[in-house]
Amino acid sequence: MILEKMGDFFGRRLDEYEAHQLGEIDSAREFYPYTAELLPRDANARVLDLGCGTGLELDFYFSLNKTAHVTGIDLAHEMLARLHDKHGGKSLKLVEGSYFDVPLGENNFDAAVSVESLHHFTQAEKLPLYRKIYLALRDGGYFVLTDYFCDTDEQESFFRRELLRLKSEQGLADGEFYHYDTPLTVPHETEALTLAGFSSVKIDASWGSTHTIVAYK
Ligand SMILES: C[S@@+](CC[C@H](N)C(=O)[O-])C[C@H]1O[C@@H](n2cnc3c(N)ncnc32)[C@H](O)[C@@H]1O
Repeated sequence: MILEKMGDFFGRRLDEYEAHQLGEIDSAREFYPYTAELLPRDANARVLDLGCGTGLELDFYFSLNKTAHVTGIDLAHEMLARLHDKHGGKSLKLVEGSYFDVPLGENNFDAAVSVESLHHFTQAEKLPLYRKIYLALRDGGYFVLTDYFCDTDEQESFFRRELLRLKSEQGLADGEFYHYDTPLTVPHETEALTLAGFSSVKIDASWGSTHTIVAYK
């Protein structure tokens, strides 16, 4: 397997991306609308989407809340362009970059969401990101994370080792993100969110190894 840089990987697969997500990923037709339904319905709600891609979750969310102000962050220029084409008329601010680097400020959002994006990173990488999300939420705000997870610690370590082996074999620089899935277990994900300061972290729904976790500030 040849590793591709994260943004390039998704940009190259743009044309088949949505059909793949909805048609090939178990229960996607359930967890996208389910995730959207958890987001605030209030007029002018401020929502942050981390790794928004072409915005499958936002297609459902904008149908429920047409006045929401959404900020979407993604590495892949082509994915953001497709999202803009679909929802150009909405209050949608798109930021091309890594959510690890983009400043999020404080008390700027009522809710944050991320779907199928954060399974590429270690707990150590996620901790400062989760702290940043925590600070960016208003008091009482919440983070909805829908993603897939490892069932065991052994699986989690195996995928991480494989990524490091492939990077080393292919002489790839450490500082770059490459597309290779390294999901955490739910306990490790929950621990990262709790360490970041979230007061209540709960699994809200599950479809096999995909879970929606809701974390309240
Ligand atoms: C599988 S897609 C999910 C997109 C969308 N949330 C959905 O479920 O259809 C993963 C997305 O996360 C983005 N991504 C991965 N790492 C990222 C990072 N560090 N910063 C911003 N976006 C990232 C990718 O570019 C890609 O568009």
